[in-house]
Amino acid sequence: MYPKLETERLLLRKFKMSDAKSVQKLAGEKEIYETTLNIPHPYEDGMAESWIGTHIEHFKEKKSLTLAIINKKDKQLIGAIGLSFMRYNKAEIGYWIGKDFWDQGFCTEAGKALVDYAFTALGMNKIIGRHLFINPSSGRVMQKIGMRKEGTFEDDVLKDSYYHDIVYWGITFATWTELRDDK
Ligand SMILES: CC(C)(COP(=O)(O)OP(=O)(O)OC[C@H]1O[C@@H](n2cnc3c(N)ncnc32)[C@H](O)[C@@H]1OP(=O)(O)O)[C@@H](O)C(=O)NCCC(=O)NCCS
Repeated sequence: MYPKLETERLLLRKFKMSDAKSVQKLAGEKEIYETTLNIPHPYEDGMAESWIGTHIEHFKEKKSLTLAIINKKDKQLIGAIGLSFMRYNKAEIGYWIGKDFWDQGFCTEAGKALVDYAFTALGMNKIIGRHLFINPSSGRVMQKIGMRKEGTFEDDVLKDSYYHDIVYWGITFATWTELRDDK
């Protein structure tokens, strides 16, 4: 069954087609495109519907899990978070938050819940995360989730005519268990 997670302030649930207009508005901001690798810009009509239309199939095929981040207070969509499944019981976390909602701890709160779910319900052994070197706030989110910086890969991706360094982070099941037991 497609997961639904709840935190103090957030509901993480499956995207609905009715979220498409909000996705287009939020993910369509230039600031979201600038620090991500797979979000189109301009974000044209129909793109959000196509993207949402892949989620159930991709989850069934164990390719990825994508969840809408909803603010419980006003039921508004504020972002997206997900996992891309890899070999060896490993998955990569990815996320974006609409820019009006930045720096309020929402991504960290959603990320912690998703990592907990990956280790407790999905049998993952390691969660990794990657961000452009020029995007320290994503690194800070990974740090607050409990991930450790594993290294920087030089000129690892080409985006908008520039080669970018990529910072790799990870948390293993063993480390996650230690952190949980220390609480
Ligand atoms: C990265 C992103 C998801 C963070 O979401 P968020 O909800 O604002 O994250 P949080 O509030 O949980 O944490 C952000 C942290 O970054 C810090 N931060 C913000 N700007 C920063 C900067 N320029 N340098 C260093 N840290 C910064 C914040 O202060 C906060 O840390 P704190 O709690 O210690 O103060 C959001 O900025 C975003 O969607 N960016 C565009 C898309 C993107 O980059 N996605 C990730 C691709 S890897």
